[in-house]
This record gives sequence, C-alpha cells and structure tokens, in this order.
Amino acid sequence: MSKTRPRTFAICGGAYGDEGKGRIVDMVVHELSQTGPVVVFRDNGGANAGHTVEFPNGKRVALHQLPSGVFIKDATIVLGKEMVIHPEDLLEELHQVDGVTETEYRAEIKIDEMALLSLDTHRAFESVLKDWQSGGKGSTGRGIAPAYADVLLRHPLRMRDIVTFDQEKISSHYDLYAALVSGLGQEIAAVLVPTLKGEKHPVGSKAELVRNLQAQAKALAAYVGPVHGWLEEKWLDKKWGFVFEKAQAVGLDYRWGVYPDVTASDTTIDGIFSASEGAIDPDQIEIRAGVIKATYMSSVGTRKLPSLMTDALADRIREDAHEYGATTKRPRDIAYLDIPALRFFSRVGRINALMLTHMDVSYLDHPIKVCTGYKLDKKNVAYRPDQEFLNQVTPVYKELPSWDAKLLAKAKSRTDLPQEAQDFIAFVAKEIGVPVTLITTGPQRDQAVKL
Ligand code: IMP
Repeated sequence: MSKTRPRTFAICGGAYGDEGKGRIVDMVVHELSQTGPVVVFRDNGGANAGHTVEFPNGKRVALHQLPSGVFIKDATIVLGKEMVIHPEDLLEELHQVDGVTETEYRAEIKIDEMALLSLDTHRAFESVLKDWQSGGKGSTGRGIAPAYADVLLRHPLRMRDIVTFDQEKISSHYDLYAALVSGLGQEIAAVLVPTLKGEKHPVGSKAELVRNLQAQAKALAAYVGPVHGWLEEKWLDKKWGFVFEKAQAVGLDYRWGVYPDVTASDTTIDGIFSASEGAIDPDQIEIRAGVIKATYMSSVGTRKLPSLMTDALADRIREDAHEYGATTKRPRDIAYLDIPALRFFSRVGRINALMLTHMDVSYLDHPIKVCTGYKLDKKNVAYRPDQEFLNQVTPVYKELPSWDAKLLAKAKSRTDLPQEAQDFIAFVAKEIGVPVTLITTGPQRDQAVKL
C-alpha cells in the first residue's frame, strides 16, 4: 500500500463532461496557494476542453489548453507529456490571458518537451474522415484523435520537434497527412479547419505550415523543456502542493464511455502515472475527486442515456442551469442521476471523493428522481460501456425529497444545509460508495461547502 502525499488533489469529470470542474480546480489551487507553492499539472486532452473564467470586471476568458491555475500567481502550471497541443491556439489563449492578468500576475508556465502536437493537418484529416464514418456527431474538430493515433502508429510529433525545428520530420508529417486526406478524396491545403474561436480557415501549403510553425515555436520556446526531473523533485519536496486537472470526463474515456461519443485520451486519474513517466503514483494522491452534478446529469452527442429525462422537467433544468454546449449552443440531453454509471466511473476512474456541483438545481414542487439500478431479464445488472447493452436495460428509480434551493445560498457547513439536502448527499455517497467532500451551491467562488 503506498502512503498518500499530503497537499495533493486530482480533479476529474465523474460523468460525461461539463460538470463544472474548472471552477473547483480554481478554488482548490487558490486555497492551496495560501500555504505554499503549487504545481497544477494537466496531463490529457487539448483544445477539445473548454472552461470560461469570468472576472469581477466582467472580462471573460475561455480556457482550452491552459489549466485553470493560470490566473494564480504562485502556481506553476504544467502542460504534460500526454497532452496534445495546438501551438497556434495556445498562443492565442496566452494572449487572451495576458490581456486580463498582465503577464507578471499569471502563473509560471512549463510545457513538457515531450507533449504531443495536434496541428491543422490532424484537424483536416479528422474533418475529412467524418464523411466516411457513420453515426455520431463526431469530434470537437480539434484533431485530438489523429494526434493520439500518431503515437500508436509510431510517428508522433512532439513539442521538442518544433523547438529544435526538425524540418524533415515536420515535412514528412505534412506529406503523410496530405496522402491520407487525398486517399479520402480531398486536397489537404484546401480543407477548412477551425481556429480557436471556431472560425474556419484552409490548412494551406506545406511551406505555409512550416513557416507558421517556425514562428509559433519561437514564441513558445521559452516555456518548453524537460519536465520529468523537475516534477519528480517537486513531488518529493513536501512544501509544494499539487493539483492535477484532468480534462473531459471518465464517461468520455475511449475505454469506459460508449462509442462514438468518446475522446482519445486517458481521462482517468490513472493517466497521471504515464504522463509523469511513473514519477507520480496516482494512489499517493490524497484527494482523487470526481466532479458530478448533484441532482441530474447532462450529455452531448448521440449516446442514449438509460435514465434520459423526457418530460418538461428536462427543459426547466436546461434553462435554469444553462445546459447548452459552450461553443455549439446545442441543447444538452438531461438525465436523472444514473447511479450504476457513476459507480462504474468512480471505480475505473480511481476516484476516492465526490464533489457535487449545482446543488441549487432543486425544485420544491418536484421530488428528485434517481436511477438506482438497471434490470435486464428481471435480473439486476451493472453499467457496462456498451450502448447496445445499455439500450436493453430498464432503469429502476427512487424518489427523494427536494429542498428549497434558496436556503443553500448562505450555507457554510453541512449543518447549515436543509435536512433533505443532507440526506440526499448521504444517499448519493452510500449508493456510489464514495464520500462526498464538497458541494457547490451557486456560481460564485465562495458558494461552496466543504463537508
Ligand atoms: P474529441 O475529444 O474532439 O475527439 O471528441 C470526442 C467526443 O468527446 C465528442 O463526442 C465530443 O463532444 C466529446 N467531448 C470532448 N471533450 C469534451 C468536453 O470537454 N465536454 C463534453 N464533451 C466532450
């Protein structure tokens, strides 16, 4: 049994994404930074993630590749080895961050030279491939899956390849993707790919890609270097706190979610082990939190959730909790809390604590319905990551009393909460088999209760 390392938190999405974990990371980093320096390590995903930070002066910045700790001066944020980085988008994001913080007030930034690259070539291939795939609304269009596929196919491009500018490697990368795209019937230079803001532009020629990458590499070079030794040293130095910010969510993991609505990275807390080259044993992380919405679930894509809500309550929640895609504005599906799925995600995600957001989504004229199990051929069955299987199960529901959401606003501790809310939290913890350590009761940073 490995001993836990104090002052360490990992925070991952415990359902299908968009649980509100960015705000929790921000809170945890802020608190930890009061008592010492903090490393915020992001190990997976890339520009497919999205989290908007609002400042008291009304300015808003959407973070995609930078972890939430970027706005905290005493933090060092690390973009780890198993992230897929789009240099142009990253520079634009840094530019926006500097626009609100002034450079000297933002965190120090380190990019692992081993981090993977996800370029417009990957976005083009993904976009063209979509025409050949059936089902699903596809990816976020950010070239995530092709960049990860490069690793398995043994030709990844890494940050250091652009910093040292390995022109031969970059050139053959373009040629390979041009051939793949041409094999699928299109010419790579003309394929339209999204920018950070979602506008479309053509990939352009090889010479243009090389020229742009050269300029981007120059602008990013100061942040890029070896990370492994530094990370190992800080992990052993107990004065440093650690926050691991995972991207996406366990229910979107390519092994634990349902096809085609899955991403290509390891979204579980286990992913920290390989991204840190074994320096950090996830078992040693003290709080390994799965963030979930307290009273309901939301989902984008084509997956059919067994506990999908089809009545007017779904519309009411969607409006009240703004459950629309952050970039696409697509209405999200709303479902009753699915305990079999959440129990499964907690287990495979290595989660040892639950953090419940949106505790204020509760209506006095509606009990809270929770799916506590699945039945198949009159037998109880557990969640399995297989849509065909899930299509056959019948959910079993239980109704619990709701609470007056207005009474949460000023709550500072468990006993300040209405009894129904306390009972609900205890019920969720028992059913999922993981303690609840924090709830959020509203959108402001201080609207949270530690339990
Ligand atoms: P990809 O990550 O771009 O490959 O997209 C694969 C699937 O994951 C798609 O169904 C996306 O909608 C979904 N996805 C990726 N990132 C997020 C996220 O941050 N929140 C919710 N869904 C996501």
